[in-house]
Amino acid sequence: MLQDIREVLISEEELQTKIKELGATLSEEYRERNPLIICVLKGAALFMADLVKKMDVHLEMDFMDVSSYGSSTKSSGEVKIIKDLNTSVEGRDVLIVEDIIDSGLTLKYLVELLEHRKAKSVKIVTLLDKPHHRKVDLTADITGFTVPDEFVVGYGLDYAEKYRNLPFIGVLKPHVYEGQ
Ligand code: XMP
Ligand code: MG
Repeated sequence: MLQDIREVLISEEELQTKIKELGATLSEEYRERNPLIICVLKGAALFMADLVKKMDVHLEMDFMDVSSYGSSTKSSGEVKIIKDLNTSVEGRDVLIVEDIIDSGLTLKYLVELLEHRKAKSVKIVTLLDKPHHRKVDLTADITGFTVPDEFVVGYGLDYAEKYRNLPFIGVLKPHVYEGQ
């Protein structure tokens, strides 16, 4: 697997240092609020797991899996819910944990959905931000790293469902995409 990596963009150590920082910030923010932490599957699973371990507050966790509709309707920002929450968000302080924001459509939809379901507050923490292709005006409340306009893998992010288990964020060698 490692032989497929062209470049490490964010090392394991840099990730862990940043996550510790984010955890401290979020602990301050959510003290005594019993937030509901929502992981957007599958990409954010590793980030979520490490982040909550650095949050010294009572919290609850839930998981959502969503996928964008085909490219023809993607500009509408419609996403399909593959797995919904098990928890009611009504009156709750909700924190969405995302792996990467690209167009912003997925998160815009999710935020609106959770607000419609009467969450008390909805905030976003994203590990990575790729601001180059935003289609909607959306910024995370907290961002770990801004990455260049390249397809990145690792630490939860996949290419064709592989590479999620890399402990760092990296870029693949071109031959991997060319199916060599
Ligand atoms: P939006 O709606 O913001 O969607 O366009 C963000 C989702 O797009 C996927 N994505 C990536 N996945 N490497 C990945 O593995 C990338 O570089 C990348 N850029 C976008 C990802 O699923 C994210 O949740
Ligand atoms: Mg994702």
